[in-house]
Amino acid sequence: MKRRIGILTSGGDCPGLNAAIRGVARASYALFDAEIVGFRGGYRGLIDGDYQEMTKAQFSNILTMGGTILGTSRTPFRDMRVVGEDNVDKVAQMKANYEKLGLDCLVTLGGNGTHKTANMLSQEGLNVIGLPKTIDNDIYGTDFTFGFHTAVEIATDVIDRIHTTAASHNRVMIIEIMGNKAGWLTLYAGLAGGADAILIPEMPYDIKEVAKVVEKRAEANKNFTIIAVAEGAMDVEEARLKRKEREARRQASGHTFVATKVAKELQEVIDVEARTVIPGHILRGGTPCAYDRVLSTQFGVHAAQLISNGTYGVTVALDGERIIHNSLSDVAGVAKPVTPSHYMVKTARSMGISFCESDD
Ligand code: F6P
Repeated sequence: MKRRIGILTSGGDCPGLNAAIRGVARASYALFDAEIVGFRGGYRGLIDGDYQEMTKAQFSNILTMGGTILGTSRTPFRDMRVVGEDNVDKVAQMKANYEKLGLDCLVTLGGNGTHKTANMLSQEGLNVIGLPKTIDNDIYGTDFTFGFHTAVEIATDVIDRIHTTAASHNRVMIIEIMGNKAGWLTLYAGLAGGADAILIPEMPYDIKEVAKVVEKRAEANKNFTIIAVAEGAMDVEEARLKRKEREARRQASGHTFVATKVAKELQEVIDVEARTVIPGHILRGGTPCAYDRVLSTQFGVHAAQLISNGTYGVTVALDGERIIHNSLSDVAGVAKPVTPSHYMVKTARSMGISFCESDD
């Protein structure tokens, strides 16, 4: 049986994308007569017809490589149906290119936005399979996304290194960790790195409670404090605002980074020296850790099996120790936030880590 597979990586890159591409390709070549078309720069490549006929050799030596050999871009879902000044109907172009290339299916590797577009294309009649990637781990229906564990490793290393300098200088160190609107990355890295406080978007913080953590440590002769703050974290007042109002307020305050905001507010409440560290895109860079290589490969192999069976309109997922697939329509547009009752939150609390919620 011959199958022509289109493949693309969309949204922010992460370690493990190449391992997943390799997994899809190698398992497909083993299972059936596969021809693979790689779209450059995510959905942009599918819209513009920017593609290459891939050779088997292109999938060699990429297991440990960070980034994506196909390139990626952010093509927001909300713009997909908008016909701009260039007069391009993006959805029609994607369907036309899929047909023109004689594809049997399209494999999309991406996060939440990618899954929304994948679902739309599936509903438009294309055979689509999703693979969940993101350092944010915020895709509904899967225990973990690939890329997440590598980012946890990197963020943990940052926290480890900050510990020694924090202790030497008697400082409060505030480390801002990516994760978009979700606190997963900060929660895991904060626990792994032994942070004293973890601030995440799902559990708005009160700066008075952050100050209490620092003071309690000082009373116990611990002269430094490590605070892991998610980039999307907000205080209790901000949490009451709409997103646009919140952003406007941050802009006006001159603190677009939450870490600098927390540092400033903390120093207004108590007499401490605070410093901020923002590793940013370092968290997405470099080689995937072993866990992510395995997960990416498992996801890729599962996608090839789905193609072999002709099962489409789904996205691959991890459920405990099993690799499963969920309907794209069940996953697209559904968030996976940290819940305050999650076992990871409970574990952190049991370790004396504070989430600095208001006690009012
Ligand atoms: O979704 C992955 C992510 O790294 C988020 O954690 C972060 O908010 C965002 O992408 C950054 O996006 P960009 O790479 O476009 O700056």
